[in-house]
This record gives sequence, C-alpha cells and structure tokens, in this order.
Amino acid sequence: MRITAILLVGLLSVFGLGEARAQSALSGQVTSTEEGAMEGVVVSAKRDGSTITVSVVTDAKGRYAFPAARLEPGKYSLRLRAAGYQLSGPSTAEVAAGQEAKADLKLTKLRSLSAHLTNAEWMHSMPGTETQKKFLLNCLGCHTLERIMKSSHDADGMIDAINRMATYYPGTTPLRPQRLAGNFQRMRDRGNVKPIAEWLATVNLSQQDTWQFPLKTLPRPVGRSTRVIFTEYDLPEAHIQPHDVVMDSKGNVWYSDFGQMFLGKMDATTGKVTQYPIPVTKPGWPLGSLDLEIDRDDNVWLGMMYQASIVRFDQKTETFRVWSIPKEWDSEGAQFGHLAVQGTHVDGKVWVKNSDGTKIYRLDLATDKWEDLGAPMDPRTKRRIGTYGIHSDSVNNDAYLLDFAAGNIVKIDAKTKLTTVYLTPSPNSTPRRGRVDAEGRVWFAEYRADRIGMLDPKSGQITEWKVPTEWSAPYDAMFSRHGHAWTGSMVTDRVAQLDVETGQVTEYTLPRPTNIRRVYVDDRSNPGHLWIGSNHGGSIVKVEPLD
Ligand code: HEC
Repeated sequence: MRITAILLVGLLSVFGLGEARAQSALSGQVTSTEEGAMEGVVVSAKRDGSTITVSVVTDAKGRYAFPAARLEPGKYSLRLRAAGYQLSGPSTAEVAAGQEAKADLKLTKLRSLSAHLTNAEWMHSMPGTETQKKFLLNCLGCHTLERIMKSSHDADGMIDAINRMATYYPGTTPLRPQRLAGNFQRMRDRGNVKPIAEWLATVNLSQQDTWQFPLKTLPRPVGRSTRVIFTEYDLPEAHIQPHDVVMDSKGNVWYSDFGQMFLGKMDATTGKVTQYPIPVTKPGWPLGSLDLEIDRDDNVWLGMMYQASIVRFDQKTETFRVWSIPKEWDSEGAQFGHLAVQGTHVDGKVWVKNSDGTKIYRLDLATDKWEDLGAPMDPRTKRRIGTYGIHSDSVNNDAYLLDFAAGNIVKIDAKTKLTTVYLTPSPNSTPRRGRVDAEGRVWFAEYRADRIGMLDPKSGQITEWKVPTEWSAPYDAMFSRHGHAWTGSMVTDRVAQLDVETGQVTEYTLPRPTNIRRVYVDDRSNPGHLWIGSNHGGSIVKVEPLD
C-alpha cells in the first residue's frame, strides 16, 4: 500500500500535478431565480480574435469548469445554451496564466421561446399526425423548421412555396440559393403536397398572430450527458457548408463544401484552414460536393453532385484528378454524390452512385473505363432500390446500398451482379449513410426510425438501437474500435454515443444550432473524439466525452 502511495506522489510531481497549479482556467456556477442551480447549461468561451470556441456543461450543482489546458490566457466572451433563458450581467472573463478565473452566471427567463426551439422541439410542439410530421423531414436540408412555422402562407401559398423549394439544389441555404439546372426537379409533387400544405397552413401563422399550441422544449442534459468538452472551429467564411468531415491517417481534418467548389483541410490543433479549388466540369450546373472519402493511401475523394464527376486529391502533389460521367450517360439530373473507395487498393476500382435512376457504376482506375451495374431491383417488390449511401467491403467485391426509399440494406456482388436484400426490423426505416467496420459489419443510421442499425453479413442479422430523443432522424453512423457507435442529427442539435455492449446511449447537446450530416470518430484514444460539420453554421465541431 505504502509503495503505491509513494509511487503515486512521485508520478504526480513528475507530471507537475502535485504542485499548487490551477486545475481549471475558468469556472463558476450557473443559477436562475426560477431554478436555482442549473444543470445541463452549455457554457461557451471564445477568446477575443480567436476562431475557436470551447464549451463545457454545468453539473448537478450548476457548476462548470474549463480545464486549464483548454483556455490560453486572454479575454473571453461567454455565451450559453439553456432553452428559455438568457445571460444577464457581464458576459466576459479574463483568464490569466496559471490562475483560475471565476465567473458565476445569472440567467433570466425569456418571455419568448420560439427563437430557441430546435427542429425536434417544433416537431414535439406542433399538432399533427406522425405521417404529416414525417413529411417535414424533407424540409431540414436548407433551413430550419422555424422558417416554416413563422410563415404566413395559406394552403395555396404553401403549395407554391413547396414547389419553389423543389427548384433548389440540396446544398442551398436561403443566403446562398442555387437553382437546379435544366428541367430537372428534385422533389416532384407526387400528389402528397396538397394535404400537407393544408395542414401546415393550420400550424403556421397564416390564421393567427401566435401559435395555438404550447411551445415545448426538451429537458436539458443531465448526468453523463454533461461530461463533455466541445471545441468549435470557425471556417474562414460563414457560408462554407462542411457536409462531410473526415480525418486522414496523419490527423488532418478534411471537409467537403456542399455549396462551393473547394476541398477544405483543417489543422486539428490550430484550426488553420486551407481551401483547394476544384475544377468545374459542368458549367451552369450547381456547385458543391457531398461524400468525402479517404482511401488507404490517404488520397481524398469527393462526389461532385451535379457536376457529375468524382475527384481524387493527391496530398503529395496537391493536385486533383477528375473523372466525369461518360458523355453518353450524362443527363440533366446526373448526380454523383456518393462513392466508395474503402477497398480500392485491392483492385483499383471505385464504386459510384448516379442518383438519376439510382444507377450503380464502377470505375476502373487502370483503364479509366466505367462499368454500369444498372439500377438494382428489390426482387420481392420489383421496386428500384433507392440507394443513398454506398459502402464497399474490404476486398471490394461487395458494396452495400442503403435503401433510402424503404428499409433495406442491399448487398451487390460486383462479379455475379447478384443482390441480397436484408430488411431492417423497423419498417420504412430509410437507412441513409454509414460505414463498414474492420470486422466487415455495416453500421448505418435509420433516418425515419430514430435508430442506429448494424448488419452482420456473416449471420445476415440486423440489430437496431433506438436513439432516445424522438425525431433524432439520424443521418449517419460510425463504429469506433472502443465499442461505441456514434450518430448525429439534423433535427435535435444532439449527437449520440451508443455503448454497443450495454446498449446505453449517451446524448450530448451541442453549444448552438448544428445541422449535422456525416459523423467521424477519431478512435486513436479511448473513448475517442467525434468530428462533425455544422452544415449551416460554417464551422467544424469536435466532441470529447469525458467518461
Ligand atoms: C433545397 C433547399 C430547400 C429545401 C429542401 C426546402 N427549402 Fe424552404 N427555402 C429554401 C430557400 C432557398 C428559401 C428562401 C428563398 C425562397 O423563399 O424561395 C426557403 C424559404 C422557405 C419559406 C419562407 C419563404 C416563404 O415563401 O414564406 C418557407 C415557408 C419554406 N421555405 C418552406 C419549406 C418547406 C415546407 C420545405 C419542405 C417541403 C422546404 N421549405 C424545404 C430552400 C429550401
């Protein structure tokens, strides 16, 4: 016993922990008249002139603390997130080297709540059937639901608005709209718009000055969900839309820009960003890329959406190689958003999806020849597979197609062209994107079933885990080698970490509204860090659980 104690003291002094040095750079307590000490308040600190914001969450006693190593000396602006509350009083703090600054924060209750509601909280608050509300999962790509709930269109006006929405490119925001080119329209009215528009006209502000239903917010995080540090890195321009954020083997962070022809690279320590311009191959068509993948040789690949090309960025020469869709296959709706390169080192082939007709192609890098595997069918229903994400296995013979039009994972064999359909236990779960892990299991997000799914191809079994917050509508999932699967949401401003062995899910509320698409886990350390892009917030966020 004594030997252990002596050893411990020795180690502490080696690491300098035994000395009387401040453990935290800034700490304090968050209280309000209504609640007293407040748990689950996200407190954010940004140093003057910096592009990096660090956030922590208050514990059960309302206390927060920024670890000493996370805030360098300087003047900080403080911000917080607690639905229905705002900061009253001073919102700055001076952090000095080696000392602990104190800032107790007093919150006052807001009289108006609507600006604080997340998409999920609008969903929870508004009256409507599940089918009606589920339609709104089509309306989160370019702006929040707040814009719809605050509109004053009657049913006819709403039909016009929805038809106008169908003319925009998915990587649009109201500040930077891009129209689709040609006659191609994305969300075609399949006869379901009129009843939806009629319902929306009863819940928006077309017939009333304020909503006739109570605005509800979800409970703030408690317990384990407060044990987290967020680091948010502002990108050079607020309109950059970091759709996919992925790390290479050296720890550089790469992002695709959904609305511009740039590949971005960020230094994960300094937040310094370099933007590499990508050649335009289809002038007049929308600009931007979606899927970003990194192959085994650290080349960065992008699916260039309506440019109907894929590109490979060679990190050594810092140059792009572009492969455009063969001329005879090109069309107004040709769209290369997704590709798979996980097994490309085996046979030199890249899987590509063309959304126009949901066709699956393979590109042979040795000959530059394209192979068309056609539009795979579901043999049971004779319906075309509505492929969203496409993910190859490690030997590159099979690819998994995530059927966003139904609830299937479909394996396609490159040699035999045979397909195998695996049904998700939840019907119409709309699997969106995911990954194949080191054991060959497919992890994916079920957008319309609020679940993380996993297909084990050996047994053919799909297992599902519910994300606790309703309307999470997870977009993507990834497994870490420490036994966790992660997902993020376009709806709740939350990310979720699943402990696969125990089934426990821990959710973390982000410091500000964050429309999350791809998720990436850096699992070099345990439990690892999650990286996500704030698609409408022009930033990249790192989430570090402390447990
Ligand atoms: C592809 C991008 C995109 C999607 C998806 C989208 N919107 Fe929009 N929305 C926009 C843009 C851009 C604007 C601002 C310019 C405009 O009004 O045309 C806007 C504005 C609005 C407005 C306010 C303007 C007005 O006319 O009152 C409403 C209401 C609206 N959208 C409803 C919807 C609904 C309902 C959906 C889902 C069916 C939806 N949007 C999906 C891009 C989109």
